[in-house]
Amino acid sequence: MTVGGIVEIAPLFYLENTIEDVEGVRPYSPLELAGRNIYIREGCYVCHSQMIRPMRDEVERYGHYSLAAESKYDHPFQWGSKRTGPDLARVGGRYSDEWHVDHMSDPQSVVPESVMPKYSFLMNRPISPDSSNSNHIAQVMATNAFVGVPYTEEQLAAETVAMDFMSQANPDGDDSDVDALLERYPGAQARNFDGQPETTEMDALIAYLQVLGTMVDFETFEPVASR
Ligand code: HEC
Repeated sequence: MTVGGIVEIAPLFYLENTIEDVEGVRPYSPLELAGRNIYIREGCYVCHSQMIRPMRDEVERYGHYSLAAESKYDHPFQWGSKRTGPDLARVGGRYSDEWHVDHMSDPQSVVPESVMPKYSFLMNRPISPDSSNSNHIAQVMATNAFVGVPYTEEQLAAETVAMDFMSQANPDGDDSDVDALLERYPGAQARNFDGQPETTEMDALIAYLQVLGTMVDFETFEPVASR
């Protein structure tokens, strides 16, 4: 028992990092992070996990099992253990934005037996980098940086945060610069997510859902052990 325990634990003291680096994992963009805050505020984690376990039935249903690296920038992480609804670790790209708008506004209109609450009010809550309910997004990013998320000084500058936020939610806007956004956040999806002219909390939440599980390219990913 004791020997086995030491054999398991001792190497952890010598490894510099127990999370292997995986290509593609990047910090969340301001809009995605704002959406993530809404996800936490609304308690979505009460019914949804974000952790696909390496077991056949899970992998067949949800896709590649979750890698530690995929949640290394998640503060707090959303692994969870309660699954009243499906795991959401790889929900990104699985449904269209319109599907999410319909489903979030009235889940029972899409899945009649669903017990998920309605979140239609998110469509009526405007959000901007400087509106009262989200003026803290630059600060949230700074806090994330403080606990180790490698945001650059440029990414953290209030003007850049505002610019990246609007470029992603409203790429056709006069001041939008999607190329700059993509340089700072490779692979970020920029579009009007909720279909309304105004940017709302629904846009932010869908931007977050659509990036979940999409950062790592599993066509090319190889676990360390098999390299
Ligand atoms: C009371 C439990 C509950 C809460 C809270 C809840 N959901 Fe759900 N959710 C479900 C259930 C049950 C389903 C499966 C039926 C359905 O699709 O509506 C589901 C399905 C989903 C799906 C579709 C997943 C898939 O792979 O088909 C998404 C996306 C989703 N929820 C997002 C959210 C978000 C975002 C929140 C918070 C704003 C949330 N849910 C809050 C119970 C919940």
